[in-house]
Order: sequence, then structure tokens, then C-alpha cells
Amino acid sequence: MNDAPDDGCPADPGLPRRPGRTMPAALRQLVAETWVFRRQEELDASLRFARLAGALEQLATPETLVELARRASEDERRHAGMCELMARTYGQEVMPPVPLVARETAPRDLGLRERVLYEVVAACCISETESTAGLTSVLAVDGPPRVRAVLRDILRDEVAHSRLGWAYLAHAAEAGDVSLLSPYLPEMLEESVSPRLFAKGLSDADSATLLAHGVLPHARKLEVFIQALHDVVFPGLERCGVDTTPGRQWVARRRQSGA
Ligand SMILES: [Fe+2]
Ligand SMILES: [Fe+2]
Repeated sequence: MNDAPDDGCPADPGLPRRPGRTMPAALRQLVAETWVFRRQEELDASLRFARLAGALEQLATPETLVELARRASEDERRHAGMCELMARTYGQEVMPPVPLVARETAPRDLGLRERVLYEVVAACCISETESTAGLTSVLAVDGPPRVRAVLRDILRDEVAHSRLGWAYLAHAAEAGDVSLLSPYLPEMLEESVSPRLFAKGLSDADSATLLAHGVLPHARKLEVFIQALHDVVFPGLERCGVDTTPGRQWVARRRQSGA
């Protein structure tokens, strides 16, 4: 497979073609660090889905949803492997330790059913939708085929993971009231956008190079996220009876601060 466009340099026929091999070292390192960061996020997500699958089973959730959560956990582990491979491709040699426990993000004072609802909505309806929108945006530009193949593979699964969230929210809304989610939307959104690796200040040319190699610059990422909130997340929550005013206010504050 031809990895061009990369940097326009002819390939050494004796070496396997590597995306990013002729990029400036600092940019290549940023790309490598992004893939390392993604690996850690995927490993966390794998643990979270495994824990959620157990909790969903405990709550007598329909087996199809439990099975989707189990499959999502396996998908995320596979994604982590792909991200690690990409990080190594861009020159990262040492990987951070594999996490053993996924931090629970739901408030501890909620009951199990509410905590699971909180986590599924935060992880699937918000984070996976954000991830889907970000990956779609990255795939809209041309880049090395090997990078695009990995991004497409991950995107296919993230779409399924976000669907799990919407299916569970609809199931929970049929069984009872889900309006308790409303005041928690700002903290879910905050958790979803931070921490982020990249500060502002990259030149347009550097941003374009990063984008071609699968990295969405910070400002663009926030823009894509806010668009997905307005197009997908807020309407989806409202259809299930969740008042999104606190979430919309969070967006307005973020826009105002420009962060
Ligand atoms: Fe993933
Ligand atoms: Fe996912």
C-alpha cells in the first residue's frame, strides 16, 4: 500500500513506508503523543464498558444491551492495540502503564441505577458522539492510507458505542424518569473535553500537517464537539425528557471564554 501523501519524499525501496517518517521531529512527536493519549483513553474505555456490562446485567437490562457493552469493551481493547501500533509508527518507544481500574465519574451519592445511567450517557451519548464527530472530521481530509484505515476502523465501532448509549437512555426513559441527568450535564461535558494535549498557537501549516496525520487541532476539536452537541446530543437528550438548558449554558460559557 502506498502511504503517500506524506511529505512528498521518495520512498526508500529497502524500507517499509512509514507515515510521518519525514515530518519535523517536534510534529511527529505530537502525533505520537496523541496516539499514546488515545491508547490510554481506549484502555480506560475498555475497563469502563466491562464494568458497565456487569452493572447493566445486575440491573436486569435487556441482554442485547449488556452484550453491546461487552462487545464495546473488546472493541476498545482492540482500538488500544491499534493506537499503540500507530504511536510506535510515529516513534514512541515507551508506553505508559496499562490502567487496571477505570475511574467512576458518576457522583457517589447516586444509587446504582442512576450512576449507571450517568456513566452510560457521559461515556456513550456524549464522549462517543464527540469521538465519532472528531474522527469524521479528520477523515474528511486526505492523509496517509495506513492512518485513514485505522481511523475508519475505530470510527465504525465508536458509532456503535454511541448507539448503545442512546438505546440505553431510551430504555431508561421508558422505565422511569431520566430528568435527573439535567443538572449533571455541565460536569459531563467538562469531563469530555479535558484534559487535552494541545495548547493553542500552532501555525496553520503545522495544524494542516497534524490533521493529515489524524490529529484534530484543539480549537477545531472544540468546534466539532459543540456542533455535535447541537446537532445530535442535545436533541437526543431532549427527546428522552432531559432538559438540556444547563448543557447549552455550558456551551455558551465555553464559547465566551474561547477555551
Ligand atoms: Fe475506541
Ligand atoms: Fe468507543
